[in-house]
Amino acid sequence: MESVTVDPRPPVLVKLGGSLITRKREEERVRPKVLARLCREIASVADQRVVLLHGAGSFGHSGALRFGLNRAPEGGAVPSDRARGAAIVAGEIRRLHLTVLREFVRAGGAPFSVPLSTHARNREGRPVELDAGPIESVLEGGMTPVSFGDVVPDDAWGFSILGADTIATELVPILHPARVIFASDVEGVFGPGRSGQRPLIPEVTDEIAQSLGSEGRTPDVTGGIRGKALAMCAIARFGVDAVLISGLTDGALSRAIRGEAVYGSWAHARPR
Ligand SMILES: Nc1ncnc2c1ncn2[C@@H]1O[C@H](COP(=O)(O)OP(=O)(O)OP(=O)(O)O)[C@@H](O)[C@H]1O
Ligand SMILES: [Mg+2]
Repeated sequence: MESVTVDPRPPVLVKLGGSLITRKREEERVRPKVLARLCREIASVADQRVVLLHGAGSFGHSGALRFGLNRAPEGGAVPSDRARGAAIVAGEIRRLHLTVLREFVRAGGAPFSVPLSTHARNREGRPVELDAGPIESVLEGGMTPVSFGDVVPDDAWGFSILGADTIATELVPILHPARVIFASDVEGVFGPGRSGQRPLIPEVTDEIAQSLGSEGRTPDVTGGIRGKALAMCAIARFGVDAVLISGLTDGALSRAIRGEAVYGSWAHARPR
């Protein structure tokens, strides 16, 4: 048998925020031009291997909230209602996922869909198991694994949400990526202040992340900006750089994938 050469290049982990690729305040609305451009930016960087994740935006957060998938079942709740809610939300996110796959193919990429719902488990809304094997084998096969925040089985609650920011964090000690890039509809993490005058925080620390409110203007069941900043700090503690950039700035994502010092909020690798 011929031996398969293992590609030694560490992958770059990219998470496209749901706030960026969808209109989060509306229902199941993609931002087609933004999504198409971002797919072209990713596909254009031929010399980097990418693992792509995407959030749910208007395809999931409000349903997850409505069916209470981000919290413990309330006393008296009917388990079959939660299961139906899980099915409905899983369907919504998959509709967005198919659109992402289609746009990435159109952009010249070779995406391979890797849902983690059968390869991950939560307990009380937090991951206890995530098998990255399918992502690794897709990478080794030379395609771009594409996964997404999803509904997963939960040991305590039946089903709950595993957000893509959390998936990114969980994958870091397994895949040892070169860097993790979060792209959203903001230029980074903003400090307190009046709207339009809030200073961008160049380096996110645990203290800053803790101090952020999780409440955004749109429903977010996975921690919003606070959850993202905490995820970035956790990634930095694993010894890997994480950055939040605006995917609305032309070319920023492709530069970040190439490893250039882009404008945004960073959590630089902390010494281990
Ligand atoms: N201090 C802050 N700095 C930056 N953004 C903030 C801040 N506080 C609230 N936000 C809001 O957080 C949003 C980004 O978090 P959000 O979780 O909604 O995006 P996302 O992760 O891209 O989407 P999804 O969770 O659907 O993948 C921004 O759109 C912004 O309006
Ligand atoms: Mg989010």
